[in-house]
Amino acid sequence: MKRIVILVSGRGSNMRAIVSRCRGEGWPAEVVAVLADRAGAAGLAWAAEQGIATAAVEFKAFAKRDEFDATLAEAIDAHAPDLVVLAGFMRILGAAFVRRYEGRMLNIHPSLLPAFPGLHTHRRALEAGCKAVGATVHFVTPELDHGPIVMQSVVPVRAGDDEAALAARVLATEHVIYPLSVRWFVEDELQVEGGIVRHRRGASQLLA
Ligand code: GAR
Repeated sequence: MKRIVILVSGRGSNMRAIVSRCRGEGWPAEVVAVLADRAGAAGLAWAAEQGIATAAVEFKAFAKRDEFDATLAEAIDAHAPDLVVLAGFMRILGAAFVRRYEGRMLNIHPSLLPAFPGLHTHRRALEAGCKAVGATVHFVTPELDHGPIVMQSVVPVRAGDDEAALAARVLATEHVIYPLSVRWFVEDELQVEGGIVRHRRGASQLLA
């Protein structure tokens, strides 16, 4: 059984989707802990109700980011994970932290990377006149919202869309591509070569 630790900052809808699929589909894996950078993260309460170990490493309690990173790494390592899943974890992580989990840490970002890394992706996509937007699951590298792409979803931008409408349309696809990507990881279906991720048996890595 692969051990998964999920990091959240907020409501944790992606985390919930992963926990539900993992249990419902009988993956060879278990979500052993959900951690957050603040005790008030709604996702923590949900995970605790599911009987999953939870902990908060309060970002604001640390004067230096390196110290936060080191304490977070300790909290993660206490659960000996095979995979660390960033699910709406809104902290920039230092290079040493990222290297520690190289090849075994995934993130989801609500844009078609490499377009629009960082914040306010949907607003920026609307301002740029994009006709399609989407989400990306990727392995984490030290560069923010960057790294080998596991899967992407694409949705149309419709006339009259505002940020909230786009965010909701994209989020619905996140709940499909993130659990599937995590499942592929724990089932050892992913191969990374030269920065390119392929599914060993050729499954489509695009949801469109
Ligand atoms: C999701 O849309 C996720 O893609 C985004 O935060 C939201 C978290 O929602 N992540 C990022 O912007 C990371 N750069 P959730 O807490 O309901 O899963």
